[in-house]
Amino acid sequence: MRNFIRFALLAVLAALISSCGRKAPDTDLIVYYSQTGNTEILAKLFAEKLNADIFRLECETPYPDSFEETIEESRKEIEEGLGRTLVNAQASLDAYRTIYIGYPVWFGTIPPPLTAFIAENDLQGRNIVLFCTYGSGGVKSSTKSFKTAVPDCNLLGSYGIAARRLDAAGAEVDEFLANLGKTDEQDAPSCSEPRPYADTDQAIFIEATEGYGYLHLTPVMVAVEEKADGSSVWFFTCESSMREGMPAVNVEACIVKPAEGKAYLKSMERL
Ligand SMILES: Cc1cc2nc3c(=O)[nH]c(=O)nc-3n(C[C@H](O)[C@H](O)[C@H](O)COP(=O)(O)O)c2cc1C
Repeated sequence: MRNFIRFALLAVLAALISSCGRKAPDTDLIVYYSQTGNTEILAKLFAEKLNADIFRLECETPYPDSFEETIEESRKEIEEGLGRTLVNAQASLDAYRTIYIGYPVWFGTIPPPLTAFIAENDLQGRNIVLFCTYGSGGVKSSTKSFKTAVPDCNLLGSYGIAARRLDAAGAEVDEFLANLGKTDEQDAPSCSEPRPYADTDQAIFIEATEGYGYLHLTPVMVAVEEKADGSSVWFFTCESSMREGMPAVNVEACIVKPAEGKAYLKSMERL
């Protein structure tokens, strides 16, 4: 009998030791870079909703406080495909089910600190979800950059929100997480064929693009998706000359008209 009790105690002790320090297999990790705090707000929201661990990437030499200087430094890094050296580049990722990676869109792509993180960690084969904040858009283009850098990961989805709409992130993230991984085409609302932009589209376009004058948008075509909840999503193909003296480029401005309330620019992508 005494031997049996001793054996049972040893078995319990062994189980305790082996589970110590090991994550439950359903724990997620949020990894993010944020220069001015917007993406950090979103990262904390994801962490709270998923009850996930959170890890902030820190640059060895932080970017300057000035926007113009950051633009200057990061443009060179991005053009040369360089990462920005991090003080905590390598993370212990093995124990996690899904890695949520957050970043600000820079020049339509991922920022150099994230490029450094990708270079230092093996993300191939891992479950990944991307999330980002931006001024006017870049979810699709930055997701494409990420996929090029990590072609064999299992990318489950990408979410993005304009910094000026961060107040709406709570509800949107709930919806995004609820639909993550669902690919049922039948659930997808159908979109109208694109047609030339007409005077009747003006009210929605102007309402949503107020405050985006710097994008110099000229709408050319539009397609509309009517949703079951009474809202609609408008895809405007536009010409945009984002910088003075630069030739116009074609962009898609995705505008949401909620069932109630003002239309807003959800995102913009270069075509
Ligand atoms: C260097 C730099 C480049 C940027 N490029 C873009 C861009 O291409 N498209 C965009 O919509 N916003 C762009 N932005 C705006 C940021 O994506 C936006 O302010 C973001 O919310 C900042 O996130 P953070 O506060 O986490 O750093 C850029 C900002 C900086 C500093």
